[in-house]
Amino acid sequence: MKVLVVGSGAREHALTWKLGRESAVREVICAPGNAGTAPDAPAPSLDVGDPAALLAYAEAEAVDLTVVGPELPLARGVGDLFEARGRRLFGPGRHAARLESSKAFAKEFMARHAVPTARFRVCRSPDEALAAVEGSEFGFPVVVKADGLAAGKGVTVAPDRAAAERAVREAMVDGRFGEAGRCVVVEEHLSGVEASFFAICDGREAVGLPVAQDHKRAFDGDRGPNTGGMGAFAPSPLMSSALDRRIRHEIVEPVLEGMRRAGHPFRGFLYVGLMLTAEGPKVVEFNVRLGDPEAQVVLPMIAGELAPVLDAAARGALDGSVCEHSDDPHVGVVLASGGYPGRYDTGAAIAGLAAASALDDVLVFHAGTALRDGSVVTAGGRVLTVVGRGRDFPAAIARAYEAEACITFAGKHVRSDIGRKALSAARGVGAPA
Ligand code: AMP
Ligand code: GLY
Repeated sequence: MKVLVVGSGAREHALTWKLGRESAVREVICAPGNAGTAPDAPAPSLDVGDPAALLAYAEAEAVDLTVVGPELPLARGVGDLFEARGRRLFGPGRHAARLESSKAFAKEFMARHAVPTARFRVCRSPDEALAAVEGSEFGFPVVVKADGLAAGKGVTVAPDRAAAERAVREAMVDGRFGEAGRCVVVEEHLSGVEASFFAICDGREAVGLPVAQDHKRAFDGDRGPNTGGMGAFAPSPLMSSALDRRIRHEIVEPVLEGMRRAGHPFRGFLYVGLMLTAEGPKVVEFNVRLGDPEAQVVLPMIAGELAPVLDAAARGALDGSVCEHSDDPHVGVVLASGGYPGRYDTGAAIAGLAAASALDDVLVFHAGTALRDGSVVTAGGRVLTVVGRGRDFPAAIARAYEAEACITFAGKHVRSDIGRKALSAARGVGAPA
């Protein structure tokens, strides 16, 4: 089959790499892509936020299966459009995508279907939200979330009432997130360790993938501003088969059942952002796509072919398919442009890519890169993800950092502690009771 991967990050490069080496895949195109996904050709220009443009491209290229990386086209209904035209796409329709595009929808859905999550209040006016944080029934810290898509910036963990009020005003009065902040969710703060659970869903059944852990903050020791993710590792040493069963039974199955009954079967990657609390796993957020950088460590762990599984899921016919995977630790380190997630420069020449890729047990995935006069230059905040594999976490970490050190560009920023949490978890530190 001919596959189109939509997007331009390292997640999409990892999808393109994985699908491109499978026997069922004749050709894979990544659009708009980056210097890694189309090393020998200019990346096709494509507006990922425009479902009609994606459909036109898939039709013109006679694509058999389209796999969508980012949430925006899904939230804009690309799934419905492809379905209406009888063209196969792996990703949910607009209604099911609201699990990610509206936090109020997701919370109310979880309440209706008894999915464990933080206690919350949906507030549709500033007065309502200010009243909710004033005598917070959830105590402090309290969490204030803009309802809509806010590029990862819509969540504030407010230590006290003043900070919570500020967050409410920014979202609902100052319009910092535009439409996305006209409604907010005020919720209980959960303590525990975060983990990312991914399932390939066909509307009825789900195939689980290895569980990963992300590193969201910009600097070592989980300090500094939130980013899209500075690194990830898998498998999470906090997982067990009992916990896996609980997540499927308490979270994934009710979501699939609830969506199916509502007439909007969920077909696509379901990303469950979990907090592993002392009381058990609770949902922090849903996303309707793979995570980035989690995908870069999870996809290389899949031993069998992924394309037939995605194709079956897109047809609503997983029929007991499984995804065999390795348990070897994988650690992915993000190389970012200095200043990210704030302002950063682009256009810096990148050296050492070939040396890094030549190392055993190393994969180099591109994100914000472009070709300029035949050389690869930086073109975004997150530039590359370098993934190391090892027999154990110390070996995987060492591989990833050895490869990372080969690559240089002006202003390069990396966290030096990616994967360290896996070591302490293995010693029993940070594991939920
Ligand atoms: P979200 O976009 O909902 O995933 O939130 C972004 C980040 O904010 C999460 O990854 C958590 O680190 C943090 N967060 C969100 N909700 C909560 C919560 N109820 N308790 C503690 N931390 C939270
Ligand atoms: N790594 C977090 C995300 O993809 O949303």
